[in-house]
Amino acid sequence: MRIGILGGTGPAGSALAARLASVGFDVVIGSRSKYRAMEAVDHILERWPDRRLPVEAADNGGAADADLIVIATPWDGATQTAVSVEGHLRGKVVISMANALTRIGKEFQPLVPPRGSVAASVQAAVPRCMVAAALHHVPAKELGDLDHTIDTDVLICSDHRAATDATAELVAKMPNMRPLDAGGLSQATPIESFTAVLLELNFRYKTRVAVRFTGIGDDPAIPAASASAAAKELVDGGAGAPAADPPAG
Ligand SMILES: NC(=O)c1ccc[n+]([C@@H]2O[C@H](COP(=O)([O-])OP(=O)(O)OC[C@H]3O[C@@H](n4cnc5c(N)ncnc54)[C@H](OP(=O)(O)O)[C@@H]3O)[C@@H](O)[C@H]2O)c1
Repeated sequence: MRIGILGGTGPAGSALAARLASVGFDVVIGSRSKYRAMEAVDHILERWPDRRLPVEAADNGGAADADLIVIATPWDGATQTAVSVEGHLRGKVVISMANALTRIGKEFQPLVPPRGSVAASVQAAVPRCMVAAALHHVPAKELGDLDHTIDTDVLICSDHRAATDATAELVAKMPNMRPLDAGGLSQATPIESFTAVLLELNFRYKTRVAVRFTGIGDDPAIPAASASAAAKELVDGGAGAPAADPPAG
C-alpha cells in the first residue's frame, strides 16, 4: 500500500514517512516543491542507510496519487493543500494530523479553525474524501527515531467508519502505538486543541510527552468494532476506498 504525505518535508511528515516505511509501507513524501521532497527523502535515506526504506519524492499532487493520504502541513495550509489536489482525493481516506495552535509569548494556545477543527475544515472543503483526524499528539522527533519505539495511544475520529478503520490498521502496524476510536469528527476539536496542553507540559517539564490512557485494557489491540475487513484490505494491499461508507458511530 502506498501512503502519500502532503507537506511531508517538515519534521512531522518526514518522521511519519520514515516510521511508516520502516514497517513496510511504500511512502511518497509530497511537497509544494518536488526538489524539497527529494531533499527530505535523501535525508531519511542518509540517516538510515541500512534499512532500505521505501520512500520516494513527489510534488503534493504526486503524493496525493497514493492509496491513503496524510496531511502534514501547518494548520493554516491544510485545507488549501487538500483542495489543490482534490481530484486525487476522491473516495480515499485522508488523515489530518494538523493542529491549529499559536504561541503567544511562552504560552501555546489553541485556535478554532472554521468548522471547529482543521480536520473538519478539510472534510467540508473536500467532501468526497473520507477524513480521519489522527496522530496529533505523537512527537515528531521520537516518531522519526527508528531505533526506538514510542509507547503511545493515538486518538482517531472520523465521520466515516472506513476512515477510522483504515487509520487504526495503519497505526497498529507501528510498534507500541495503540489506535483508539474516539468517535465522530466533532471530536477533532478537543483532540487538536489538547495538543496545546502537551506542548505546555513539554515546556514546563523539559521533555516530550506522549499520551497513554488507562482503563481500556493492556492489550494494544484495535477495538473489535473497528477491525473491518474493508479497512484491512485497504491497508494490507487493496487499492481504492471500500464501496460501503456508513458513518462511524
Ligand atoms: N512536529 C510535531 O511534533 C507534530 C506532531 C504531531 C502533529 N504535528 C502537526 O503536523 C503538522 C506538520 O508539522 P511540522 O512541524 O512538520 O510543520 P512544518 O514543518 O511547519 O510544515 C510541514 C511542511 O508543510 C509545508 N507547508 C508549510 N506551509 C505551508 C502552507 N501554507 N501550505 C501548504 N504547505 C505548507 C512545508 O513543505 P513544502 O514547503 O515542502 O511544501 C513544510 O515543510 C502541523 O500541523 C503540526 O501541528 C506536528
